[in-house]
Amino acid sequence: MSDYVELSNLTKGFPGSTGPVIIVRDFNLHIQRGEFVTLIGHSGCGKSTVLSMLAGLCPVTSGAIVLAGRELTGPGPDRGVVFQSPSLLPWLTAFKNVMLGVDQVFFTAPRSERARIAEYYLSVVGLADAMHKRPSELSQGMRQRVGIARAFALSPKMLLLDEPFGMLDSLTRFELQQVLVNLWSRNAVTALMVTHDVDEALFLSDRIVMMTNGPEAGVGDILDVTFSRPRERRAVIEHSDYQRLRDHLIDFLETRAHLRPNQTPAPHRPPPSAPASRPVNRPVVRPREPLTADVLAVTPG
Ligand SMILES: Nc1ncnc2c1ncn2[C@@H]1O[C@H](COP(=O)(O)OP(=O)(O)OP(=O)(O)O)[C@@H](O)[C@H]1O
Ligand SMILES: [Mg+2]
Repeated sequence: MSDYVELSNLTKGFPGSTGPVIIVRDFNLHIQRGEFVTLIGHSGCGKSTVLSMLAGLCPVTSGAIVLAGRELTGPGPDRGVVFQSPSLLPWLTAFKNVMLGVDQVFFTAPRSERARIAEYYLSVVGLADAMHKRPSELSQGMRQRVGIARAFALSPKMLLLDEPFGMLDSLTRFELQQVLVNLWSRNAVTALMVTHDVDEALFLSDRIVMMTNGPEAGVGDILDVTFSRPRERRAVIEHSDYQRLRDHLIDFLETRAHLRPNQTPAPHRPPPSAPASRPVNRPVVRPREPLTADVLAVTPG
């Protein structure tokens, strides 16, 4: 099985007062189709920079990004992006905000089909009764639901999420994590998400990529999260592996994130009882819910 997403020697520099500053250097990551990967690391290490390069919003300095066999050179509707704040157009309703992208991607489909796509995704994120409201009439959590619906409605090859729940209270955060994971598993979409929250990463991910601190940040370690799916939050937290995986992440962030890739840490803390990381990918095999809505038969134009 070939890799669906390949980030190869990805490097990004920004101009600094005394010359270019390399923020990310030789970032290498391969992601399988349908995999959910999270990126975790200290503030300022370059997580959003990596995501922005994948989104095509920030040009790469060197290296390459390949998605589904095609090298990326700029933004495109094959990538759905969800930021911390959804940046909705304030004069349009939730429905019309979602339709903006749907109209562009499914331009060959009749208008009624396009409307059904927007309505479907707004309904599954829980906004069936609020889709004709403007952003100012929606709560922060509802606006973020629109952002999630907008991204999925484009049927993207890949979903890119940058701390999508960072501004939400914990109850809304839990609800939206569930909305996201349900949609992700139904749509078999490949996802890369940035988060600071280790519990969120453990609940959602197939793998967690730990970034070293910048400048010249890279992949420091990768953790497999093998809890069976679908996951139930309490069962995940009570799983016998949970604390060990969580300790591994915290240990990396506290004591190993400042090390350069391939540099070994001073042995002042014991490693986890069982090795949890691996250097290479494995195919992801996960049962999928069948797509039932006929609107999903529409393919991007
Ligand atoms: N356009 C830019 N010009 C110059 N420097 C930049 C630019 N964008 C980001 N940087 C720098 O790159 C570094 C990484 O920024 P980035 O936003 O990727 O970090 P992050 O890991 O996402 O942080 P956080 O967790 O706080 O969101 C920072 O030092 C930042 O100042
Ligand atoms: Mg960021």
